[in-house]
Amino acid sequence: MRLAPFLQLLALASAVVATNASTRGVYDLVKRRLPSHADDFIFTLTETNTTEPTNDEYSISTAYGGAIAIEGNSISALTTGLRRYFNDIAHADLHWFIGNRLDTAASPLPRPNATIVGKSIVPWRYYFNTVTFSYTSPFWTWEDWEYELDWLALRGVNLPLAWVGFEKILLDVFRETGLTDPEILTFFSGPAFLAWNRFGNIQGSWGGELPLAWIDSQFELQKKILKRMIELGMTPILPAFTGFVPRAIHDKFPDANVVNGSRWEGFDSRYTNTTFLEPSDPMFADLQARTIGKQLEYYGNITQFYTLDQYNENDPASGDLEYLRSVTAGTWKSLKAANPGAVWVMQGWLFYSNRDFWDTDRISAYLSGVEVDSDILILDLFSESEPQWQRTDSYYGKPWVWCQLHDYGGNQGLYGQIDNVTINPISALQTSPSMVGMGLTPEGEEGNEIIYSLLLDQAWSSTPIDTASYFTSFVRTRYNGPNNTIPSSLYTAWEILRTTAYNNTNLTANAVPKSILELHPHVSGLVDRSGHHPTALHYDPTLLVTALTHFLSASSTDEALWQNPAYQHDIVDLARQVLANTFLSTYTSLLTVWNTTSPSPSTISTHSEILTSLLTTLDALLSTLPHFRLSTWLAAARASAPAGDEEVADFFEYTARNQLTLWGPEGEINDYASKQWGGLVGGYYLPRWEVFLEYVAGHGPGEYDQEDVVRGVGVVQEGFQRVGGAGIGMGDGEGRSVREVVEGGVVQVLGRAGVL
Ligand SMILES: *[C@@H]1O[C@H](CO)[C@@H](O)[C@H](O)[C@H]1NC(C)=O
Ligand SMILES: *[C@@H]1O[C@H](CO)[C@@H](O)[C@H](O)[C@H]1NC(C)=O
Ligand SMILES: *[C@@H]1O[C@H](CO)[C@@H](O)[C@H](O)[C@H]1NC(C)=O
Ligand SMILES: *[C@@H]1O[C@H](CO)[C@@H](O)[C@H](O)[C@H]1NC(C)=O
Ligand SMILES: *[C@@H]1O[C@H](CO)[C@@H](O)[C@H](O)[C@H]1NC(C)=O
Ligand SMILES: *[C@@H]1O[C@H](CO)[C@@H](O)[C@H](O)[C@H]1NC(C)=O
Ligand SMILES: *[C@@H]1O[C@H](CO)[C@@H](O)[C@H](O)[C@H]1NC(C)=O
Ligand SMILES: *[C@@H]1O[C@H](CO)[C@@H](O)[C@H](O)[C@H]1NC(C)=O
Ligand SMILES: *[C@@H]1O[C@H](CO)[C@@H](O)[C@H](O)[C@H]1NC(C)=O
Ligand SMILES: *[C@@H]1O[C@H](CO)[C@@H](O)[C@H](O)[C@H]1NC(C)=O
Repeated sequence: MRLAPFLQLLALASAVVATNASTRGVYDLVKRRLPSHADDFIFTLTETNTTEPTNDEYSISTAYGGAIAIEGNSISALTTGLRRYFNDIAHADLHWFIGNRLDTAASPLPRPNATIVGKSIVPWRYYFNTVTFSYTSPFWTWEDWEYELDWLALRGVNLPLAWVGFEKILLDVFRETGLTDPEILTFFSGPAFLAWNRFGNIQGSWGGELPLAWIDSQFELQKKILKRMIELGMTPILPAFTGFVPRAIHDKFPDANVVNGSRWEGFDSRYTNTTFLEPSDPMFADLQARTIGKQLEYYGNITQFYTLDQYNENDPASGDLEYLRSVTAGTWKSLKAANPGAVWVMQGWLFYSNRDFWDTDRISAYLSGVEVDSDILILDLFSESEPQWQRTDSYYGKPWVWCQLHDYGGNQGLYGQIDNVTINPISALQTSPSMVGMGLTPEGEEGNEIIYSLLLDQAWSSTPIDTASYFTSFVRTRYNGPNNTIPSSLYTAWEILRTTAYNNTNLTANAVPKSILELHPHVSGLVDRSGHHPTALHYDPTLLVTALTHFLSASSTDEALWQNPAYQHDIVDLARQVLANTFLSTYTSLLTVWNTTSPSPSTISTHSEILTSLLTTLDALLSTLPHFRLSTWLAAARASAPAGDEEVADFFEYTARNQLTLWGPEGEINDYASKQWGGLVGGYYLPRWEVFLEYVAGHGPGEYDQEDVVRGVGVVQEGFQRVGGAGIGMGDGEGRSVREVVEGGVVQVLGRAGVL
């Protein structure tokens, strides 16, 4: 049972759901994804009790007429029940990057022979990080969004963030204050960097400017997204006015109470030092009323939830407790005045990332400005590794959500903390009366789908999920196909993954690992990194090679697996990791030989040659599937530009390339959002390493000067930023099958490297 302060928060939400409740959205989901069986289901919404906060519940059974009957007390309960039916009875699912595989269910669809019930343990299942909108979805089409929202609905998410198209709102609001379009547009950042503009970390754009036509098209996209979210039983979280304003505010309103923000990540002050309008200035409440008012006008009164972050990696102008309290008090009042039902949603990242500033006195003062607890909802953003709810005594009673962050910048190492994401949210729920949700806050949707699903499924189980049986049933469903006998070696392979890559418990490295192949080459400092972007492996890499041999043995038992999209994706992903791990060990061996008094030139060149082959093979492997190709990302960026406008398309492609590589005009956050993608490995990382390997072959430890390497690597990096420069081409593997590259490349190079 939850405590009183949250009754209000929850009752408001159920009121909104109740008024819009219709099962049409669930029927439409089935029609989209399994049209031939749209008539097999009957969905029934049981009456919701709006006076008492309830968790979501569903039941699945076979109706008298033979239909599959799913009953639930919310739309989200129905969609979650639908996936439970597909997973447990029909063994089919819809996956990230692989596609919709619901059609692998047997036909006629199997009927449940007993009633299956499910109940959520928290009212809210949250999804998205503000930065996911820049790392993953900046160039998504409506079809991409439809797919994502179906994935989320089937996994019970009912509280997603909805940032798309916000610049249209801000543009309208700033225009009303008298700012001109050039003054406003020079404030916005490029399409792949908007998240940090929205956070107030950066302002302006390098390489081009957001076109008005794109701002409009994103707004149109947002209207479709919001409508679909509501049809699928989700309460969207909309943006609000944060206080960050164009610099021209100084000239237009000389009396405005503004502070110049701090410098973020070493960016030139022209791109950072964002201007912040103090919430105590009456203009703040006015701009808030306009920002929220416009969304009410355009979208309707569809939500109470507003995302609003003012100090994400930006420290406040003062640490004075009264000042901090006044900032939240002013912001809260502005929200309530604009929409009396407003609930402020805040990413709690600042309390971890800037903890030197945010001692508990300051956090407490800051949060106390919101005088009604249920008017705020805090995302404990990185609960699996750096939870802040304990040191803040459950955010001093404010409602909060247990979130798994998992990765930075969409980096792709195989990784998970299966014990933590099953055991810890359950014990947090038992300990903290103000925990009201569980959710996911990935920086990018990078892979490791099982770990994301695991936490969302945990939100429907009052005891920690048994991961051994969870993985078994995952394998059964994931590889379902015409031959629905799954070779036992696939179960064995995933059992190895479960107990190695997916079971990190040593939190000196606490997120998805990055491979050194994606880093600027150097003779030191690359290996054994811990923390955020660890390069240290927390498992024995030879066990992953064993897992790969089990994958190979599965397809020699059942050759049809080579045509199974789930198998194709997973073997590429696993082989990718094994190649990357082998790169690390070979690099280490190379340096050991190089750094001796009389190194053998032939040993050095053998190691160098293996390193290059690992990269060319990896590039070919990744290029076999669209999801792992650079060209997919670049083409989406270009396609997002207004039709026929090549200049804007070039700018969008530049921002897409720049985010992956230099991350900033001058390499401010170099390699942060690196990816193992076909075309990027061959067109960027390989030439960088060639510069290094050539240099190392010609210079011993005594003569080594990193500046020489930096110069050569710099040429590659700069060249890549240009549209049509290196890397625009597709990788070698495009057009070749996964099987061809695995059997005719991966196996050989691993053999030569001595790991297979
Ligand atoms: C709704 O909740 C109230 C208060 O707990 C309870 O008295 C009532 O019976 C519930 N109604 C339904 C239909 O469950
Ligand atoms: C009922 O379904 C379960 C699980 O799908 C299955 O194991 C069992 O054999 C079925 N029983 C009958 C009588 O069909
Ligand atoms: C903030 O910086 C801008 C230049 O970037 C300057 O024009 C302005 O006067 C500064 N404002 C304050 C309050 O310091
Ligand atoms: C930008 O912020 C830095 C501190 O982070 C400060 O030293 C500098 O004066 C600021 N520049 C402007 C123009 O406000
Ligand atoms: C929106 O709906 C909520 C909940 O029903 C209500 O509290 C709020 O006053 C409404 N806002 C507006 C602006 O009508
Ligand atoms: C999960 O991580 C937290 C935070 O580092 C730690 O305190 C806790 O012991 C971990 N739990 C498990 C089961 O690994
Ligand atoms: C189905 O898979 C099994 C191994 O799991 C294999 O022995 C059999 O030949 C396959 N059947 C077909 C029709 O592919
Ligand atoms: C994960 O690793 C820890 C530490 O080695 C171990 O205690 C735990 O049992 C493992 N969990 C699983 C599910 O294998
Ligand atoms: C955790 O990892 C760090 C860094 O790799 C290592 O130094 C430490 O010994 C490990 N701790 C345990 C308990 O294995
Ligand atoms: C080379 O070896 C020396 C002596 O063992 C060591 O101090 C140095 O760090 C090594 N350099 C590199 C780049 O490995």
